[in-house]
Amino acid sequence: SKKLSSTVQEAPLISDVAYELADIDWDSLGFALMPTDFMYIMKCSHGQTFSKGELQRYGNIELSPSAGVLNYGQGLFEGLKAYRKQDGNILLFRPEENALRMRMGAERMCMPSPTIEQFVDASTKLFGFFQVPPPGKGSLYIRPLLMGSGAVLGLAPAPEYTFLIYVSPVGNYFKEGIAPIHLMIDTEVHRATPGGTGGVKTIGNYASVLKAQTAAKAKGFTDVLYLDCVHKKYLEEVSSCNVFVVKGNVISTPSIKGTILPGITRKSIIDVARSQGFQVEERLVAVDELLDADEVFCSGTAVVISPVGSITYHGERISYRNGGIGVVSQQLYSALTRLQMGLTEDKMDWLLEL
Ligand code: COI
Repeated sequence: SKKLSSTVQEAPLISDVAYELADIDWDSLGFALMPTDFMYIMKCSHGQTFSKGELQRYGNIELSPSAGVLNYGQGLFEGLKAYRKQDGNILLFRPEENALRMRMGAERMCMPSPTIEQFVDASTKLFGFFQVPPPGKGSLYIRPLLMGSGAVLGLAPAPEYTFLIYVSPVGNYFKEGIAPIHLMIDTEVHRATPGGTGGVKTIGNYASVLKAQTAAKAKGFTDVLYLDCVHKKYLEEVSSCNVFVVKGNVISTPSIKGTILPGITRKSIIDVARSQGFQVEERLVAVDELLDADEVFCSGTAVVISPVGSITYHGERISYRNGGIGVVSQQLYSALTRLQMGLTEDKMDWLLEL
C-alpha cells in the first residue's frame, strides 16, 4: 500500500470528534446518513482551477436558487470507502480511481474538477480515528460532490463550482447484508441512452430510476435490473450497482460502452476473479443468459458484492442457488473484502494506508 504526504491542514478538535463518535452502536450500522463533524469545501470559477480547500463544520450549505446544479442538474458525485485495519491504521481503497472518474465525468458535464492529488488528499482529511468503524463492523463512506453552484438562468455551464466532501460510517447497503437480494427487470424504464450520461456519475442518473425502484420495492423486490434501451435485450445495471453473471468458470459483465457506470468495485472484481482462475468476459450479456446462469451478483462501492437470489422477468421468477448465497459470489466477496480490510497482501497496490 501507498503512504500519503499531506498538503491539507489538519482538522481542528479531531480528538473531540473522536470521542463524540465513540458512542456509535457499531453493530447496527446500515446505509443511512450519520453525519460527522466536518465537511471539506473547495470552490472555483468557470475556467479556473480549484484551490484553497478548507474543512468546515458539517452543516447546510448556501446556494443561489438559480444554481446550475439545482436548475439543470450540473452535478456529479463519487463514493469511496475507508476501512480500519486490525492495527488501527486506516485503508482507503483505490481513491485515485474515484478522482479520475470524477475528472472524466466533469469533462462530460462541462465542469472544472479537482486534481487527482487534491481529491485524494481531501478524502483523507475528514475523519478522526473513531469515525472509521472498528475492523469487521463496516466502513467510512466518503461522498465527494462536484456541482455547478454559480447562478444561471439560461442553459449554460455555471459560472462557479463547488467541490464538497462529507463522510458517514456505514454498514450494509441492502438490509439483506450478504444474503441474496431479489431483483425485477423493468422492461419500460431505461437507465441510460447511447450518447447520454449513463457512463458518468451524474446525480441525474440516480434520480431518474427512483420511480422504477420505488415501484419494485412496493412489489416486494429489493431493486430493479435495467436493460439497454435500443434492443431491450442486453443487461445494463441495477439502480445503484453493476451486475455479473456466472456460468461455470466464466464470469460475464456488461462492457463499458457509454451506458454502463464504470464501477471501481466492478473493475477490481474483474482483476480479483482473474487472479483466482476465473475467465472474465466484458461483453454484451443478453437477458436470456439469466435463464441458465448458475449465479448472479451485483457490485458497487456501497453494495460491495451482493448475491442475487432471484430475478423476475415478464412475471417469471428465475432463482439462483435455491435462493442461497452463491459460492462464487461468496468467494469473491471474501477475497475483495479481505483485501480492502488489509487482511491479505495488497499485491495490486490498491490501498492507501493512513
Ligand atoms: C456507490 O456505490 O458508492 C454509489 O455511488 C451508489 C449509490 C447509489 C450509493
